[in-house]
Amino acid sequence: MGKIMKQLRLSLVGFGVVGQGLAELLHAKRVELQREFGLDVTLVSVANARHGFIYREEGLDIPTLLELTSAHRPLTEHPDVHQYASALHGLQATQADMLAEVTGTNLRDAEPGMGHIRAALARGMDVITANKGPAALAADELFALARENNAQLRIESTVMAGTPVISTIREGMAGATVHAIRGILNGTTNYILSAMAAGRDYKDVLAEAQAQGYAEADPTADVEGYDTLAKTLILAAVVFGHPLKPEQVIRQGITQITREQMQRAIDNGRRIKLVASLRQTPGNSSTATTFEARVEPVELPLSDALARVDGVMNAITIQTDTLPEVSIIGPGAGRLQTGQGLLADLIAIARDK
Ligand SMILES: NC(=O)c1ccc[n+]([C@@H]2O[C@H](COP(=O)([O-])OP(=O)(O)OC[C@H]3O[C@@H](n4cnc5c(N)ncnc54)[C@H](OP(=O)(O)O)[C@@H]3O)[C@@H](O)[C@H]2O)c1
Repeated sequence: MGKIMKQLRLSLVGFGVVGQGLAELLHAKRVELQREFGLDVTLVSVANARHGFIYREEGLDIPTLLELTSAHRPLTEHPDVHQYASALHGLQATQADMLAEVTGTNLRDAEPGMGHIRAALARGMDVITANKGPAALAADELFALARENNAQLRIESTVMAGTPVISTIREGMAGATVHAIRGILNGTTNYILSAMAAGRDYKDVLAEAQAQGYAEADPTADVEGYDTLAKTLILAAVVFGHPLKPEQVIRQGITQITREQMQRAIDNGRRIKLVASLRQTPGNSSTATTFEARVEPVELPLSDALARVDGVMNAITIQTDTLPEVSIIGPGAGRLQTGQGLLADLIAIARDK
């Protein structure tokens, strides 16, 4: 007897590295999604900044979209599409069950992602996103908006890409009380610090990371700790229920670390890592509960699991009342690595329906 197939109409806003990665996975795993999850996903709309929003009621052909993009041709050349000037217009004017929001992260006002996510949730669409801006600056508002509209919002890929951190804590560790989290949440800075531990100079390694595509031409967001800060804000809000503003987190990047400092740490059997730490200390009858979040270079002994995580790899250690220490190590970026987190979120939402 055949399974009843769930139909999911997806809108994809942002068609860069991650948007294309998700599209590729949806195409490659189409049969598996049908067989394993009884799920038939139709990509009905795609948007980018240059060509606006295209929509096709019966679904878009993913290989055609990927070919057009790799040939630097406009998405509007896909046959038989309606075009809208912007994603916001398109989202309002068309129908879909779910939005995958993967435009660029902006930590000043979270736009344009914020507007896209608000518009989708307000229409009762479920939302999955890898965009760190909205989750870092307005997680509370967005989860409340989702609840009001009976929609789901999932943000797995915003922290350590598809390596399951948020779902592991919220679902896998449901019922545990998290006391503290420490993490290496930025691959670029970990790559630089790992190379410095091997005797290299900060400037040389940064240039090499830029040449290899690990670091942006403007590396500020990474090396000054803002990217790690964004993930710290997300964990504060979704794990501890303690939303913070960026200025409430002590933040220091890695630009001041010298080769000599690194060498001294190594001589003492330690490693310097850029560590995000979040800690909740419960109060008692005379003291209030305190919550502290920091992003800063820390000297870690080699006995610490985080000290031994090198290169672009990310890692996180979670301390709870029932599981004293759980560590997760995995990729924190990449086309398919990030697409995987979105795919897992999409499946989790669809399973719930
Ligand atoms: N790359 C990773 O490994 C990774 C990992 C975790 C999380 N993330 C997050 O995932 C998101 C996407 O990253 P990415 O690497 O895919 O970035 P990207 O390659 O720069 O792609 C961003 C996409 O958003 C589109 N866009 C920008 N403004 C838009 C607007 N107003 N309306 C519609 N589309 C718009 C861009 O259009 P054009 O193509 O026309 O410029 C582009 O297609 C970011 O928020 C990032 O922080 C990325």
